[in-house]
Amino acid sequence: MEQENHILIRKIMNTQKQFPKHLVSLLDWSSEQIADLLNLAHVMKKEAKCGKLKRDLDRRTLALIFEKSSMRTRVSFEVGITQLGGACIYLSQKDINLGEREPVKDGARVFSRYVDIVAARVFDHSTVEILAEHSSIPVINALSDKYHPCQALADMMTIQEKFLTTRATVVYIGDANNVARSLAVICAKLGYPFRIASPSNYSFTKDFLGKLQDTAEGSGSGIECFNSPVEASKGADVLYTDTWVSMGQEAEEADRKNVFAPYRIDSRLQSVAGENHIVMHCLPASRGEEITDEAIESRNSVVFDQAENRLHAQRILMRELLKQHQKIQ
Ligand code: CP
Ligand code: NVA
Repeated sequence: MEQENHILIRKIMNTQKQFPKHLVSLLDWSSEQIADLLNLAHVMKKEAKCGKLKRDLDRRTLALIFEKSSMRTRVSFEVGITQLGGACIYLSQKDINLGEREPVKDGARVFSRYVDIVAARVFDHSTVEILAEHSSIPVINALSDKYHPCQALADMMTIQEKFLTTRATVVYIGDANNVARSLAVICAKLGYPFRIASPSNYSFTKDFLGKLQDTAEGSGSGIECFNSPVEASKGADVLYTDTWVSMGQEAEEADRKNVFAPYRIDSRLQSVAGENHIVMHCLPASRGEEITDEAIESRNSVVFDQAENRLHAQRILMRELLKQHQKIQ
């Protein structure tokens, strides 16, 4: 039986799938491409757990270009490429001053001559778009002000591990930020009902909501926006939140803490959610603000599974983008 499983795993891993060249936003990926990548991620996670990872990124180099702080993203990318036999170079904005010292498009062309793949964490989403446009190598968005697609891949892996149905209702409480947008996109692409509860001025823009609703129509998912966190949380399978103050919004901190005070995952929201709901947070969490200590430590919480899945999702993402780019077999 174990041998049969192993043969099946090998078959899935060796089937050539088609993916886009970059991951800038999951909106650019089809539902099938996202589903394929997640299937491969689950398989590769199993391989990793039995010590069967192939070191097929030998001598491939990843550049991490980070304008903002990071723990999970940086560590999971570095560990992921190292486990596959590759190497990593970390460059903070202090090191390279991209966009100031030289245009981003020049940086993109120079990186393409030195390394095999880039992951960039940027303030302005257009920076990662420019990097992708001018790079001859794959570029991964490691968080921008608009999207956090790698987080959403790990989040969906986690949801799929906990619920066998694609009808699990995902409810996001709080700021309609980068994490919320990517989570909404992946739900819309894969057919998961998605609800968001946020204060009126901090909800999705009309433009984004339009794109989301078009995507959701294709997959049969439903998108609903609420002001009331209690109404949104009724019967939820997933309760998800993120910080009220994202990196770059520090000047708005006092205002945001006021406006978002009712948008906290706590026992009140957990009591109206579905009996087997899970509690999710991309981390880092401001305990006592968007989530209580009690909720994050509750038996429903899967926040550390989510953090682990960053590694599994990004490792397969790098391998598949490099394969696509014919940098490996
Ligand atoms: N969730 C996440 O992206 O964490 P970091 O900011 O620590 O990378
Ligand atoms: N929304 C947060 C996510 C951090 C992982 C931020 O952008 O700071």
